[in-house]
Amino acid sequence: MQIRVLGSAAGGGFPQWNCNCRQCAGVRNGSLRAQRRTQSSIALSDNGVDWLLCNASPDIRAQLESFPALQPARRLRDTALVGVILMDSQIDHCTGLLSLREGCPHSVWCTERVHQDLSSGFPLFNMLAHWNGGLQWQPISLDREPFNIDACPDLSFRAIPLVSNAPPYSPNRGNPQPGDTIGLFIEDRRSGQALFYAPGLGQIDDELLGWMDRADCLLLDGTLWRDDEMRLSGVGQSLGRDMGHLAQSGPGGMLEVLDGFPRQRKVLIHINNTNPILDEDSAERTLLQRRGIEVAYDGMSIEL
Ligand code: MLT
Ligand code: MN
Ligand code: ZN
Repeated sequence: MQIRVLGSAAGGGFPQWNCNCRQCAGVRNGSLRAQRRTQSSIALSDNGVDWLLCNASPDIRAQLESFPALQPARRLRDTALVGVILMDSQIDHCTGLLSLREGCPHSVWCTERVHQDLSSGFPLFNMLAHWNGGLQWQPISLDREPFNIDACPDLSFRAIPLVSNAPPYSPNRGNPQPGDTIGLFIEDRRSGQALFYAPGLGQIDDELLGWMDRADCLLLDGTLWRDDEMRLSGVGQSLGRDMGHLAQSGPGGMLEVLDGFPRQRKVLIHINNTNPILDEDSAERTLLQRRGIEVAYDGMSIEL
């Protein structure tokens, strides 16, 4: 399986358009050693020709342009995208569907609850129905049984319900239910290797530890270093746990959890612009390196 990181930042990207925090200002003026990043999305393929998009970010147009394999130019109007899988109904993971309207219809895999949000508070399914068949909903069940996607026959997918948070516009905000956010356990039938992908992850329980243990690569929520990082940076009041993102540092934090997975390749994605791991000269980045944890960047390729 080939995995291409199209965007590695959290909502807002890096630098965020309206932010002048130390890091956003620093990457703009060149005083910070850091890479710019677009908003969280990956593409997956089992043959290098047909690609599934996992999350459709508002930066999708630039992301498609940045990866030539996604435009194979076999005919006048073409794309290598064969479908879209949504982990949740967050703005930074769905808005890109609007920019894909010229290529409708698209098959979109998501849970019942995500489909509900995207048919009410943010009615993408209803709106895009006016573009050549729009979005064809492919329901994802939460029964942990593997499901297939015809265009990628060598991959098997399992949705694992996660505790994170529903988007601010959703009636489920603050009271997330199974299906508001999922992680994906994706196995390549030929190589036998598996990826666990969870760009939004607020709590880790025993079931989840089991899926992580079975995976060979963990591509996980890297939003915040500290739970109170937004407050500390002066940019907002929300804590990581309010937003449904488990911070890396502290007791029970992502670093402590990942210490239990010495065999796995470990990569953080969906990184907020306030997170010091974006600064390549920071002590936090050095600490990750020492622990064998990578920081995803736009254009990163992983083969499993
Ligand atoms: C999140 O990951 O918590 C959201 O994308 C935040 C947002 O919508 O701004
Ligand atoms: Mn997000
Ligand atoms: Zn910032």
